[in-house]
Amino acid sequence: MSFAGKTYWIIGASEGLGRALARALAHEGARLILSARNEPRLRDLSRDLPEATALAMDVTDATSVVAAACRAEKLGPSLDGVIYCAGSYDPMSALEWKPGRAERMTEVNYTGALRVLSHVVPRMVARRSGHVVLIGSLAGHRGLPGAIGYGASKAALMHLAENLRADLKSTGVRVQSVNPGFIRTRLTEKNSFVMPMLMTPEHAAAHVIHAMRRRRFSTSFPAPFAWLFTLGRHLPLPWFQAIFRPRA
Ligand SMILES: NC(=O)c1ccc[n+]([C@@H]2O[C@H](COP(=O)([O-])OP(=O)(O)OC[C@H]3O[C@@H](n4cnc5c(N)ncnc54)[C@H](OP(=O)(O)O)[C@@H]3O)[C@@H](O)[C@H]2O)c1
Repeated sequence: MSFAGKTYWIIGASEGLGRALARALAHEGARLILSARNEPRLRDLSRDLPEATALAMDVTDATSVVAAACRAEKLGPSLDGVIYCAGSYDPMSALEWKPGRAERMTEVNYTGALRVLSHVVPRMVARRSGHVVLIGSLAGHRGLPGAIGYGASKAALMHLAENLRADLKSTGVRVQSVNPGFIRTRLTEKNSFVMPMLMTPEHAAAHVIHAMRRRRFSTSFPAPFAWLFTLGRHLPLPWFQAIFRPRA
């Protein structure tokens, strides 16, 4: 699969994985629409890339999403793909529940995706072509400690990808769920624990692009760390949670 000349809308492109994905896809010859809240960071990136447009959007604000979706349609009348990479993460245990934080993560990680896709998917279906890529997380496979809000929002996004796949199977719209392990970004700066197989954003972006080229619906990486989560789905929950129990 070639990305040359295709138009992709990356949501969450100002930082981290989304920013690295923008650079990598631009290198492959893709035209890009770059969204997130921080417009100066998007402009700074778009200036560096041959065919990229900054389009500021807050996925938690329905009005902002509608305005951006209308503009994106004008910028790329045949939007070939959308990558939903916006993310919010606050490590939080149920024993130290901070009001509002779990709702915030759900708004960005899951409800924001519904807002964006509700505009993008119908157009793709009408055109009978398109590519939807949802960036989940290994943390979305099963319930982990210290992941109130984040884990469930990622599980919801990954579940949504399955719903979309089922409904869109014969429409020409391809759906993929791509689920990374730990990436060194501002998001994981908050973690105080050891992060196995920590990747650079560039390394993770290369994994995502590799997954996008393949027909496989769901990709979790990096192996072998990801196997703990994909195979771990079939373990009895107490066994799985014993592997990841919080240290005292
Ligand atoms: N880092 C990891 O270890 C890891 C592991 C698995 C999965 N992931 C997933 O990978 C994706 C990228 O994460 P990252 O590590 O690259 O984090 P990051 O560096 O913090 O980037 C997150 C991106 O989401 C955007 N964003 C946040 N809130 C937004 C909002 N309300 N509206 C629009 N955009 C918003 C941010 O831009 P603005 O602040 O400019 O809005 C930024 O571009 C996320 O979905 C994350 O859950 C990350």
